[in-house]
Amino acid sequence: MPLKPKNRPGRLISFEGSEGSGKSTQITRLAEHFQKAGRDVVSTREPGGTEIGEQIRNIIVHNSKGDEMCAETELLLFTAARAQLVREVIAPALLRGSIVLSDRFLDSSTVYQGIGRNLAADPVAQINRFAVGDVIPDLTIVIDVPEEVSLARLKTRASDLPDRMERQNVDFYRKVREGYLVLAKGMPERFIVVDGTKSADAVEKKVWAEVQARLI
Ligand code: TMP
Repeated sequence: MPLKPKNRPGRLISFEGSEGSGKSTQITRLAEHFQKAGRDVVSTREPGGTEIGEQIRNIIVHNSKGDEMCAETELLLFTAARAQLVREVIAPALLRGSIVLSDRFLDSSTVYQGIGRNLAADPVAQINRFAVGDVIPDLTIVIDVPEEVSLARLKTRASDLPDRMERQNVDFYRKVREGYLVLAKGMPERFIVVDGTKSADAVEKKVWAEVQARLI
């Protein structure tokens, strides 16, 4: 579905960062700012956000054979869920003029499968591009936390058992963190990096200030 940024009245903002970085809290807060400003907001999460995507999420995250899943399969499943989400939810919302806040988007595949799981950058970029077409975020907010903070916050999460993606070690999270920082540095026009070790209120303030400066 062709949908060039300048042809769409809505805006797509993606949130990226390690597990435990506080993305979902910040998405809720940013949604409230936009709603107060009279904008329609659509929040989505990856992988998932559609019925097909939720089924794919279940295979990736909770499947009992998950540990045998190769990195290539993982990439294709994540991007398959994303392709569905773009066409079923995100593109129509952007055409209606909504603000779409996405909890993860294509940069998660670049970082987790490309850098974290050592898949070659070119095919990852091509597959990502095939999945999203022209639907590239107008702004991507990386909530940056050191790997130790990520792991410590994961351990205090309410869920009883860590899921498959969360059982990675500290080296994996270090690569993920560095991967995001390198991406952000290479595309400063699309990315902002926010210090996720600050209080939720401080992060919210910074995010809203940046969003207003860049998009409104
Ligand atoms: P989350 O619900 O805490 O964001 O967890 C989703 C998990 O899936 C997280 O470990 C990151 C991972 N993931 C990838 O590895 N690649 C992707 O493309 C996406 C969207 C998520």
